[in-house]
Amino acid sequence: MNASLTPRPVRRARIASLATYVPPKVLSNADLEKMVDTSDEWIRQRTGIRERHIVDPGVATSDLAAAASREAIARAGLTPSDIDFIVVGTTTPDMLFPSTACLLQAKLGADHAWGYDLLAACSGFTYALTTASQMVASGASRYALVVGADVMSSIIDYTDRTTCVLFGDGAGAVIVEASDGEAGMIDFLNYVDGHGGDALCMPAGGSLRPASKETIEGRLHYVKQDGQSVFRFAVRNTEDACRRLLERNGIDASHIDLFVSHQANQRIIRSAAEKLGIPDEKVVINIERFGNTTAGTIPLALNDAVDEGRLKAGDLLLVASVGAGFTVSAILMRWGLKA
Ligand SMILES: CC(C)(COP(=O)(O)OP(=O)(O)OC[C@H]1O[C@@H](n2cnc3c(N)ncnc32)[C@H](O)[C@@H]1OP(=O)(O)O)[C@@H](O)C(=O)NCCC(=O)NCCS
Repeated sequence: MNASLTPRPVRRARIASLATYVPPKVLSNADLEKMVDTSDEWIRQRTGIRERHIVDPGVATSDLAAAASREAIARAGLTPSDIDFIVVGTTTPDMLFPSTACLLQAKLGADHAWGYDLLAACSGFTYALTTASQMVASGASRYALVVGADVMSSIIDYTDRTTCVLFGDGAGAVIVEASDGEAGMIDFLNYVDGHGGDALCMPAGGSLRPASKETIEGRLHYVKQDGQSVFRFAVRNTEDACRRLLERNGIDASHIDLFVSHQANQRIIRSAAEKLGIPDEKVVINIERFGNTTAGTIPLALNDAVDEGRLKAGDLLLVASVGAGFTVSAILMRWGLKA
């Protein structure tokens, strides 16, 4: 038999290292009080957010991605040349094309890597992680670099109080490699409900409504959101996706050591966790410091959990996200970074 036709064995993929980056500049609720008709009290009560980081002009998604990626590669004990595959989950690419993955490949000097961007909004990181894990599990990739990065401040209307208080900028990166033990991806459940497209979108700047005087005057190059319908969908589907994933793996929610959900609103996370029967002490919430960084939230939350000693090797981790589209994702994994 021709050796090239021999099927590769399916392996388990695991996160070998994790790193994050947020720009230094902080935009606090007090700052926003001076910009729109809002209050620190309203923002904290309705969302849990206290402050978010935003970039200075001229800093792009690939810059945030590169900072997180360099650190993730170093923490894995690798060099950029070891990376063979890059997936960047982002809704705010530096430009429509070339992809941010290509720009990142050049910035890193990852001279053996191919890659692309993946647009799944707030599920950008989870979709990218599950996709890259399949590449690693199949043997097609040895060291995959998975990035969730967004400069939401580039598409936020800072005169619209219903959206500008919610978002921040940030990035996270992980190296995915084959696991030689129990650690790694156990199962995932991703799905899309495309009927929700209008509830959260940026209406112009694509092929449907290219940039024009009208689209700029109509402020159509900014995030538009029907907050309440997104809220309802997010609570229902975070719970549904997680419940179905746990059920098909025969795992009771009480066996989950840590629940890391996309950080869009503290109330969404708490409500979904409560419905799943996961107690507060097993839920990671760090939205107060970063706001909703879209594809950045999950690695930022994982990083905090590791730093705080809440996520340790061997822990059973449940990750979930809901994003514009709508996109939904739930991932079950056994944690285990390289020692
Ligand atoms: C956006 C969100 C925080 C709004 O909270 P809410 O409790 O649904 O609030 P509502 O939209 O019902 O608005 C309540 C009131 O507050 C007002 N309001 C909205 N934004 C405000 C702000 N920043 N400051 C003060 N008041 C505000 C509204 O105008 C409304 O006033 P009205 O009653 O006089 O009309 C919430 O809907 C949400 O988090 N949705 C999901 C968003 C999300 O997750 N997006 C990303 C998905 S990945």
